Amino acid sequence: MEKNNFNYYDVISENYDELHSEEQIKKYNFIKQKFNIKDDDVKILDVACGSGIIKEVFKNQNIFGIDNSKKLLEKAKKRNVKTLYYDFNIIPFPFKDKEFDYVFCVTAFHHSKNFLLLAKEFERLSDKIAVSLLKKSPSIEEQKEALKEAFKNYNYSFYDLGIDILFITENKIKK
Ligand SMILES: C[S@@+](CC[C@H](N)C(=O)[O-])C[C@H]1O[C@@H](n2cnc3c(N)ncnc32)[C@H](O)[C@@H]1O
Repeated sequence: MEKNNFNYYDVISENYDELHSEEQIKKYNFIKQKFNIKDDDVKILDVACGSGIIKEVFKNQNIFGIDNSKKLLEKAKKRNVKTLYYDFNIIPFPFKDKEFDYVFCVTAFHHSKNFLLLAKEFERLSDKIAVSLLKKSPSIEEQKEALKEAFKNYNYSFYDLGIDILFITENKIKK
């Protein structure tokens, strides 16, 4: 979200964790439990990783994070996230097909300029996807439809997490 040449998330970066970490940790914990992720040796891309709160839950996993807030990325780097300053509207991302074991995007999908394109990009990078959608976003139905379309060859579920709705893939349907 760019406003008058400054980044909103840069401005609130000092208080981001204080304001949001408790809520965000619950979401990452839910994802970890649903995918039953126990191994350390997995590679996860966290799209719009913010300050790297993911690391509070996935302590030993290999976390790559992209975001377009430099100040939040500095915090993520301190948490040992492998960070890349990147605008997720620029597709394709600089990663190979199915490079990741998992791709997550937590409370950021509503910032996309093209939901379907971004959802398809997640599918290019992994089969195991978790996207936590902000329920109060005016475009929530459009976001859900884009995910359903991009993952029409998958079994998937939506879970009500209170503030968010979590989209999560189960498996690719064999033809
Ligand atoms: C509510 S925060 C969520 C951060 C993190 N996923 C978490 O759960 O703590 C939304 C994030 O989206 C990022 N963001 C917004 N627009 C973006 C864009 N176009 N490209 C990359 N990141 C973006 C912001 O910088 C911010 O870190």
